[in-house]
Amino acid sequence: MTAICDIRDLQKLARRRVPRMFYEYADSGSWTESTYRANESDFQAIKLRQRVAVDIGDRSVKTEMIGQPVSMPVALAPVGLTGMQHPDGEIKAARAAQKFGVPFTLSTMSICSIEDVAENTSEPFWFQLYVMRDRDFVSRLIDRARDAGCSALMLTLDLQILGQRHKDIRNGLSAPPQPTLNAALQIMSRPRWCIDMLKTRRHSFRNIVGHAKGVGDLSSLSSWTTEQFDPKLSWQDIDWIKERWGGKLIIKGILDPEDARMAVEAGCDAIIVSNHGGRQLDGARSSISALPEIVSEVGNDIEVHFDGGIRSGQDVLKAICLGARSTYIGRAFIYGLGARGEAGVEQALDIIYRELDTTMALCGERLLQNLGHHNLLDPPG
Ligand code: GLV
Repeated sequence: MTAICDIRDLQKLARRRVPRMFYEYADSGSWTESTYRANESDFQAIKLRQRVAVDIGDRSVKTEMIGQPVSMPVALAPVGLTGMQHPDGEIKAARAAQKFGVPFTLSTMSICSIEDVAENTSEPFWFQLYVMRDRDFVSRLIDRARDAGCSALMLTLDLQILGQRHKDIRNGLSAPPQPTLNAALQIMSRPRWCIDMLKTRRHSFRNIVGHAKGVGDLSSLSSWTTEQFDPKLSWQDIDWIKERWGGKLIIKGILDPEDARMAVEAGCDAIIVSNHGGRQLDGARSSISALPEIVSEVGNDIEVHFDGGIRSGQDVLKAICLGARSTYIGRAFIYGLGARGEAGVEQALDIIYRELDTTMALCGERLLQNLGHHNLLDPPG
């Protein structure tokens, strides 16, 4: 096997191991994928300032996210269907995150349930919430997250309806896969994945099936979101969610300074500058290009977190230089999971950690708190 040096190597391996509908569910954006591509290419356009002959001994990338100590400014983002990349994927990723000392966020649209993850980990994790029309179900999800000991609720605001995901339509994405010729061909070409998947019972959306009224089978993500997600969700709804939850709240999906201000006024502990990994509004700006304006609008009032396009520790450093307090990786850990299970997620975290530390050192810095626009050439914004 060739050496695994960076996230791209894990990605190549994942592509060979995971059936196409699940691999491409992760490796895709909506519609023309222009925003998906811009998330990465706008990072590449940012150039770093190299500095020499400065003391770079005693470096540290440790910090805090919403008051929680973390070994680096990187958390695992909520990713739907993680348990289809690898059996019990959410449990495996949560365990890897726990070992590494970074937060894991469980998606509402996960395969393993809140309870599955809680029973198989010993540290609190975070829970990401989508707001559905059935408010009783949403209330019960919030209660379940609290009962499971989750230490933060992450409310996603940019998916009231699903973006146009053409690859998912073409691939016939569903969990579990439907008995069609298209699905059978995709699955049968990944025999090792099939054998591994037979070892778990967790093949569908276990936060939802059997918990939400009238949902016995949730094979199609797109039809289910159309029927269940609440298109009328507005800032007024944040109050009852906050009240019901009563703990740390993170608002995800902010791409505009005006929305950032509204989120601060709604009252939360952090916001995440995010375009949902280019999976929602195609044609929207890249996350990294939006970050400086949002930081200048609300950076003094709230913790600003960042996601979208991070494939390396260099990208993490660039986001921190532009004012993010912390970042999230989605695909970067999903590729590790698809490639090698729990060990692959640990490897992805280790790769990002080492790239971040090396880049910081070669920029002549020892501490995250000292990073800023001065480490970049022609910083955007
Ligand atoms: C769900 O969160 C998705 O983006 O597919």
